[in-house]
Amino acid sequence: MLKQLEELKLKVLRELEEVSEIKELESWRVRYLGKKSELTRILRSLATLPLEQRKTIGALANEVRADLESSLKQKRQTLREAQVVIQTKEEQFDTTLPGRPLPIGHLHPITQTLYEICDIFISMGFQVVEGPEVEWDYYNFESLNIPKEHPARDTMSTLWVDSKAESDERCMLLRTHTTSMQLRVMEKTPPPLRVIIPGKVYRYEASDATHTPMFHQIDGLVVDKGITMADLKGTLYEVVRRFFGEDRKVRFRCDYFPFVEPGAEMAIECSVCSGNGCRLCGNSGWIEILGAGMTHPQVLQRAGLDPEVYSGFAFGMGVDRIPMLRYWIDNIRLFYNSDLRFLRQF
Ligand code: PHE
Repeated sequence: MLKQLEELKLKVLRELEEVSEIKELESWRVRYLGKKSELTRILRSLATLPLEQRKTIGALANEVRADLESSLKQKRQTLREAQVVIQTKEEQFDTTLPGRPLPIGHLHPITQTLYEICDIFISMGFQVVEGPEVEWDYYNFESLNIPKEHPARDTMSTLWVDSKAESDERCMLLRTHTTSMQLRVMEKTPPPLRVIIPGKVYRYEASDATHTPMFHQIDGLVVDKGITMADLKGTLYEVVRRFFGEDRKVRFRCDYFPFVEPGAEMAIECSVCSGNGCRLCGNSGWIEILGAGMTHPQVLQRAGLDPEVYSGFAFGMGVDRIPMLRYWIDNIRLFYNSDLRFLRQF
């Protein structure tokens, strides 16, 4: 009978093991711990046994019953916990909920403008070149006929990176114009060459409606045999016409830049006030968009080119003002405040 009890215990526990739902537990309990169960029958029959057997079998039978009851309790607990996990998972994962839309951004209006202008030049056979924003004094100034004491340095308040360098030419700065790439390009690329250089430039200036310490420029450089001022004007007029439209008034005047001779500046009629004068155009009715000129013979020479054989033209335009003119924006700082309500409009 002892053996029978042991076997019964093992069999019954194995069955309990296989139960996977709480509602099945009750039938298991009735079957093995209920009034009509084998165990109950054994316990009842104890009375009929001799005293010795009654003691040992009774003790074991009670032990088995206690075991089964505690196993049942434990199993109920485990199944309950599992059910809670399943329920909460189902609650968290509502398959009927529509997906959250991912916001798709777009290029910044200044980047869009930069790309658009580059595309016009690319269609005219120009190549795009980029260069370092932290630049040697040599490429930003010296190589462009702007030595240390030259007053042209005053017009470009410079952010110096290491003013303690051992010699002036070895000084580093944040480039004040993308013209800093012109000699680098000429040193590496033999003519004929036709490039544009887009990028960020830096000046130590307080910001106001039309100035920020960082802004964007596109420089251009063409070097070949027989390049003249007519090529310069023809190219720039065509670009302005394509970008701003046929009717936009353009003004072309003499100007001075140490690295070109002769030098010029180009302005277009202010679109905010249609030439009447406003805050954006400083009440002049015109907005200067670029400086230009014929590459200075000394600059060509510095790149190892013979100015008797080669000539070139160069220009540099500010990019940030262009979307301002286009979209009638009267404060440049709006571009850099990261206000999505503003940026989403473009
Ligand atoms: N680098 C000049 C500026 O920043 C513009 C310029 C470029 C003028 C090339 C002439 C030729 O003002």
